[in-house]
This record gives sequence, C-alpha cells and structure tokens, in this order.
Amino acid sequence: MIVLGIETSCDETSAGIVRGGFQVLSNVVASQANLHARYGGVVPEVASRKHLECMLPVMLEALETAGLTWRELDGLAVTNRPGLLGALLVGVSAAKALAYALNIPVTPVHHLKGHLYSTFLAAPDLTDQFPLLALIVSGGHTQIIRMDHHCDYRLLGTTRDDAAGEAFDKGARLLGLPYPGGPEVAALASQGDPSAVPMPRSYLGDTLDFSFSGVKTALRTFISRDKGQTRLADIAAGYQEAIVVMLTRTLHRAIQQTGIKTVCVCGGVAANSRLQEAMKAMTEKEGCRLVIPDSRLCTDNAAMIAAAGWYRLQHTAPAPLSFDTLAVSPLALATI
Ligand code: KG4
Ligand code: ZN
Repeated sequence: MIVLGIETSCDETSAGIVRGGFQVLSNVVASQANLHARYGGVVPEVASRKHLECMLPVMLEALETAGLTWRELDGLAVTNRPGLLGALLVGVSAAKALAYALNIPVTPVHHLKGHLYSTFLAAPDLTDQFPLLALIVSGGHTQIIRMDHHCDYRLLGTTRDDAAGEAFDKGARLLGLPYPGGPEVAALASQGDPSAVPMPRSYLGDTLDFSFSGVKTALRTFISRDKGQTRLADIAAGYQEAIVVMLTRTLHRAIQQTGIKTVCVCGGVAANSRLQEAMKAMTEKEGCRLVIPDSRLCTDNAAMIAAAGWYRLQHTAPAPLSFDTLAVSPLALATI
C-alpha cells in the first residue's frame, strides 16, 4: 500500500510518500522558518497563508521524487491535531479533496503519533518489539508514552508548563539568538562549558512529569544580573545541559519503573546532539535498545504521518470525510 502523508500543523508544509508502512519514497519539507524569524516565532495567520501557497507544489514534488502519479496512491494520511487550527485546515482540506477526487481512503493522524512512527521508519523491526517507551520532545509537547501495540498508548508523563522545544526557543530569545532557537542554542552551547554556569533542574516528586519554567526563569535572572560578564556560549551550554539532564533522568526513571528495554526518543529536540549523547550513555548503562531517528525525521515531516496512517488504513474502515481538526489534544486521548 502506497500512502501520501500531509503535514501542516505548524510552520512546515510537508508531503511524504511511504510504501508498505516503512519505506520512504519521498519526504518533501518546505520550511517557513525564515518567514517567521523576523517576528521571533510563528505567526498563525501568516503560516496558514504560506501553507496554502506551498501545499500543491510540495505534493507534486513528493510525487515526482517518488516517480509516481496521483493514480498510483492507495491512501492518504493527514495531521488533523494538535496544531495551529488554520494551518491544520489547509492540509486537512487538501487531503479530503484528494480522497474525494481519487476515490481513495484518507485517515486523520494525531501529530504526536506521527512523531512516534518516525522511530518505526528508522527501525521497522520495532513493530516486533512491543512494549516500547517513547520520549516525544517537540516544540509543543514533552511526553513519555508507553506503547503496547500499534493502537495502544498510555501517557506516563508530560510537561506541566513549557515543552522542551519551547524551553529551547524561549531560552534562545533570552540569549539574543534568532528563531527557531533550538538549533541556535545547540550550536552556541557546543562551544561552551556545560559546568561553568550550573542551572537548576526540576523533578516533580515520584511522577514522570516535567517542568522547564524554573530553568527558564533562572536563565532570565542570570542574564539580567550578569551584565555580559560571562561568555554566552557557557550560559547556553549550562542551560542546554539542565534541559538534557532533566529529560534523561526522567526517562531513566521511566525505564526503571516499567522495566521496558526498548526506548525511542523522537520529535524536533531529539535532533539535539548533546541529548542524543546523554540518552546513549544512559540507555547503554541500562542495557536498553535506543532508537533515535535521523534529524530530518525528528523534525516535522510528512513521511512520519504517512507511516502512522498506514497501520490504520490497513486495519480499520476508512474514516468519513467529515473528520474534524483540533488545536489541542494529548496523544493519550487520541482516537486512532
Ligand atoms: O517536532 P518539531 O519539528 O515541531 C513540533 O512538533 O513542535 O519540533 C520543533 C522544536 C523547536 O522547538 C526547535 O527549536 C526544536 O524542536 N529543535 C531543537 C533542535 N532542533 C530542533 N532543539 C534543540 N536542539 C536542536 N538541535
Ligand atoms: Zn512536531
């Protein structure tokens, strides 16, 4: 089965084609990052308009790269939640129109489920490795999920305030770095000493929840009191280290509590090389298998949406074309 995935939940217009659930034939991503950089963050209305402009050319490029025609598609998968409502509507409307015109099934996909399935693209044999533990770290979410089967998710921990990516983006702004801040903080931090400026770490009792507001406030306070005496690279390295350690220790506790030895880290922040290093060291000590997709599959892309939609298209009746879009929705409450 060949599935075209469509992703427009935030500021990337993406179309990706996946065969048999795991083989990526194309994965075209048109990023709007430059467009939003001048505002220091994503402007929803601007994003929606840009999606409208890019949607068709991006889908045509995905078909061309895969060497396929519209008629060779067997199904469609589209992100319908969570995300910016106007942005989601562009992708969802395109998918519904195509499903109607081509007379093929379409399935709505929860964006976080897409991030989860980016790990199946990186390691298709995960499908025989349930149960899995997954840490999803993106710009809008930070969740630890236990996955017992393709349709069976349990939320073990989540952020009580900012998401990890949001902490990177807001920290970048405090450091005077442009949007999107995660890669900028990472690049600056790579030239700094992570122990020169220790930042606080928050753990929420026995829970597997996260909180990043404390470290963000600590960064703001440090910068305002320091008055430019400390190297920015050292501050960035200390800030990044605190986020990395909070994520790694909490996932470590989840491994110890559940005894699950197959561990995935996905979402945009999973592209962070210091986080990857720390996760590798921790999971090696615990004797776990760790899967982190390539950077291109960690950040928003439509191949992961096609992969996530494939299972449902194979195993359930087609969704009616009346399915909705929703701005906010945790994965554990997703209907799949
Ligand atoms: O998954 P994603 O592409 O979009 C959402 O679903 O939100 O994640 C985007 C987030 C942004 O906050 C971005 O700053 C962060 O991922 N990010 C990074 C890195 N690359 C992207 N954060 C830290 N280090 C990176 N190398
Ligand atoms: Zn995402």
